[in-house]
Amino acid sequence: MKIKTGKMVSETDYKNPIFIPLYKTSETVETMIPEDLANAIKNVTHSAKTEKNDREIKKIYVNLNGNYTPVYLLSLSKKPENFTCFAEYGYTIGKILKKDKIKSFSFLAFEDTLFDNSLEEKENSVYTKNFIDGIYFGLYAYEKYLTKKQAYKLKELKVITQSEALGNYLKNFEETNTIFENIYLSRDLINEPANDLTPATFSKIIKNKSPERLTVQVYNEKDIEEKGLNLINAVGKGSANKPRFVKLTYKGNPGSKKNIALVGKGVTFDSGGTNLKPTGYIETMKTDMSGASLMFALTRLIAESKLKVNVNTFIPLVENTIGTSACRPGDIYKSASGKTVEILNTDAEGRLILADALYMATKEKPDLIVDAATLTGACVVALGSHIAGMFSNRPSISETFLKASNSMGEDFWELPLYKGYASNLKSKIADIQNISSQKREAGTIIAALFLEEFVANYPWIHLDIAGVAFLEEEHKIYGNAASGFGIRTLYEFIKKEYC
Ligand code: BES
Ligand code: ZN
Ligand code: ZN
Repeated sequence: MKIKTGKMVSETDYKNPIFIPLYKTSETVETMIPEDLANAIKNVTHSAKTEKNDREIKKIYVNLNGNYTPVYLLSLSKKPENFTCFAEYGYTIGKILKKDKIKSFSFLAFEDTLFDNSLEEKENSVYTKNFIDGIYFGLYAYEKYLTKKQAYKLKELKVITQSEALGNYLKNFEETNTIFENIYLSRDLINEPANDLTPATFSKIIKNKSPERLTVQVYNEKDIEEKGLNLINAVGKGSANKPRFVKLTYKGNPGSKKNIALVGKGVTFDSGGTNLKPTGYIETMKTDMSGASLMFALTRLIAESKLKVNVNTFIPLVENTIGTSACRPGDIYKSASGKTVEILNTDAEGRLILADALYMATKEKPDLIVDAATLTGACVVALGSHIAGMFSNRPSISETFLKASNSMGEDFWELPLYKGYASNLKSKIADIQNISSQKREAGTIIAALFLEEFVANYPWIHLDIAGVAFLEEEHKIYGNAASGFGIRTLYEFIKKEYC
């Protein structure tokens, strides 16, 4: 998508739809649009303002120079309290653009229309940034398996603004395009069914879609065995679709030894294994590779944006199936780290493959490890589908991470690595077991404590995205199905703190 800017709506803009946000008075708006348009919307704005619904978008057709131009009016009865609602307006507009198949349109920036006098707020482009992000989320469609595809694309967007700060932000718009290309890629992968997205095909997609700046190494099932990644092998060997382990390397700061490690859970289908999941819990389990898709898309985004940081990304890919060669409850395996693990529940498989991947990450002596995983149903119960769980073994890192998450309007909630529960993971005959002896309690914390055993006290963040990665009910920004949640926050966080 291309972006253009202008200080006023001009007559050439009449060819395409125009989006106008209004607040209290339309005075500022009137200085930014030609008289004929101002006259045409006067009556409508009056009636729109009396609507009870704060964010109703009215579509009217205005005869401008003999053209019937669609004009969308968003009338706000009160000044919005936070910026996330702008992403919601954007999402709604994005959906309208998609439905009406609009190729090009212009809109008046909130920075200009909401704040007549306050320069300070005008200088902050956060409203338009969020609005445009919302538009991107609303435009997304997953059509791969439809015989009749719309193949709709918004080509151009024109922002009408007199704010210099916003104009400057929009000059670097290429970055936003790259961010959303990768968010879309991540959503596509999550939405893809498990009969087509297997560990092998996923690893091939990673190879094909990685830019040259990224080095890709793929271990097949033999390599996995040889390298002693026995937990990945244990979870993956039950399926005819054999496991893979992918390592991506990006050297954005070759002069420095500093590096970060990213790890993503890549279970292409989680049947639960021998502890088979029942109906009602198994249907969406093609999405159990959301952490892997997030970390792949994020790494690609970092490389494409040429961030000055060294990144190693570790992606264990398995299909967790039931079958004669699948692992069983009670089996004991020696992990890559050397610790022996008793598998008491084959459905707690994410932490097993992550244990080996986290151990591989520690070998790089990283300054930070971040893992993302659709790890526990307990996290969905605790935080629902709008908030992700977050853990860290360094309070200062939690703080900066949560700052980044707040600035992106993505909600993460910190949960404690409460050491008092660690003894629940003690096995009678191995070094550790993969589920708690207190079966129903604090499942999300227990899973995090299990992972902590494999990070060797390197600075670490664990993100449980079980609730947020795939949305069964429509979200006001992310819509339906795969969300792409977390990429913006992690990108912002890494850019601010590690570049
Ligand atoms: N993939 C699931 C977690 C999950 C649940 C993700 C719902 C997305 C939506 C994970 O592998 C799992 O099955 N965890 C078990 C752990 C339990 C056996 C200790 C769970 O949460 O029930
Ligand atoms: Zn599971
Ligand atoms: Zn799982």
